[in-house]
Amino acid sequence: MPAITIAPTFPIDDSPSSPSGSDSGKHHVISAPMQLPKPTSTPRSLSSTHDHFSVVDLPKLDTFVSLDHLPDVLAVYDKGDITNVRPGGRNTPVYYRRAYPKSERSLTKDPRRAALFLDKANCIESGRRSSVYHAPLFATLGPKGDSRKSVVVAAKVANDTCRSHHLLREEAKGYASFPDQFFNASDPHPWAMGPDTPLVNHRPAMRPRCFPGWGVAMNPKSPAPLVTVPPITPKFYGFYVPLNPETMHSLARRHRECEDFQNSDCDVPNWPKSILLMEDCGEHIDPVTMPSEHREKCLQLVERMHCLGFSHGHARASNMLVQPGPLSLPRELRSMDTPSFRLISLGRWRGAYHPQVLESPQGARRAFCKGRQNDVLIAMQELGMVNASGSDDG
Ligand SMILES: Nc1ncnc2c1ncn2[C@@H]1O[C@H](COP(=O)(O)OP(=O)(O)OP(=O)(O)O)[C@@H](O)[C@H]1O
Ligand SMILES: [Mg+2]
Repeated sequence: MPAITIAPTFPIDDSPSSPSGSDSGKHHVISAPMQLPKPTSTPRSLSSTHDHFSVVDLPKLDTFVSLDHLPDVLAVYDKGDITNVRPGGRNTPVYYRRAYPKSERSLTKDPRRAALFLDKANCIESGRRSSVYHAPLFATLGPKGDSRKSVVVAAKVANDTCRSHHLLREEAKGYASFPDQFFNASDPHPWAMGPDTPLVNHRPAMRPRCFPGWGVAMNPKSPAPLVTVPPITPKFYGFYVPLNPETMHSLARRHRECEDFQNSDCDVPNWPKSILLMEDCGEHIDPVTMPSEHREKCLQLVERMHCLGFSHGHARASNMLVQPGPLSLPRELRSMDTPSFRLISLGRWRGAYHPQVLESPQGARRAFCKGRQNDVLIAMQELGMVNASGSDDG
């Protein structure tokens, strides 16, 4: 296979993006320079005859990556035309920039770069709204100067309808808003206090550094809680939008007029696809064969979301994953006898403190309460915890 290169410099400025390049991160849009430079060097680790699309023997990325360490720019190598950006472009990358979480760093100089390798052969599953792939990511993911390494992430792209694109963007906004307890094992408080715990507006885990006081929870020297509850969702590694190589404007598209209508679902077979990167969290649960204590744990994930002020919006069994646990043990000591569960597919989330555009704080609170009620009903039904008439199974 020919050598693959990552452009060593990536021209960026902060001038506004085109009105049509609508996937925002508006304040931190990478735009303007007219041309990508020709690559002048090839990182040694990417220039061998190694198959960069292969996920065999690569470690899964399962650690939390702080906002400061996420890539700003991705060179995406697309084997199988997954992105709709450049048909047949397997050895030349398509450039993407991160839209969520938004960066507080000036992107004008020296953005953090990484390479992602998408291959249809690595598809985990094509769902109703999206397809998810195992994908090698070649990145630093630590302080500047650390060496780059290859790890496997789950890369989610929307299917060819405007609603699927909308839901994936909403899911990314959710991941960028969720607090630390969603991604990391955490202190059971406030969950231990039960569902009547007053709602608190939690700070997002992927928060910028500049908010005073918010650095404390990120401080690795903070004592780890003795008793912890497991994470709720996969860890989030960013939502990336494709760029026009000439103008560096975003190619991501949306039907704003369809977004208020839940049933609007126009076919958009040629829209360039954005990419959501997250932790691979295993396989579907099978509620039929699961013991009741495991079904209870899945329901608790949904209820813990609620205690933290967020509703899921699609709490079906197909959106619950299982992998060997407990996650506190090294991978080789984990077992399916002590499984670890996660919720996925968060495109329909609502937050008690996260009003949508033109929505009042009270409106957001009402939407959250309604979502919370539906989540519990759907999750209990799907997990076989209520019978057909809706009463408890016991
Ligand atoms: N983080 C992940 N780790 C492993 N597999 C995943 C992950 N996210 C998604 N998948 C797989 O991809 C499938 C589709 O993903 P997802 O449920 O998020 O989208 P969807 O089913 O298309 O949308 P929706 O559930 O909102 O209708 C999942 O059923 C699961 O098998
Ligand atoms: Mg699903």
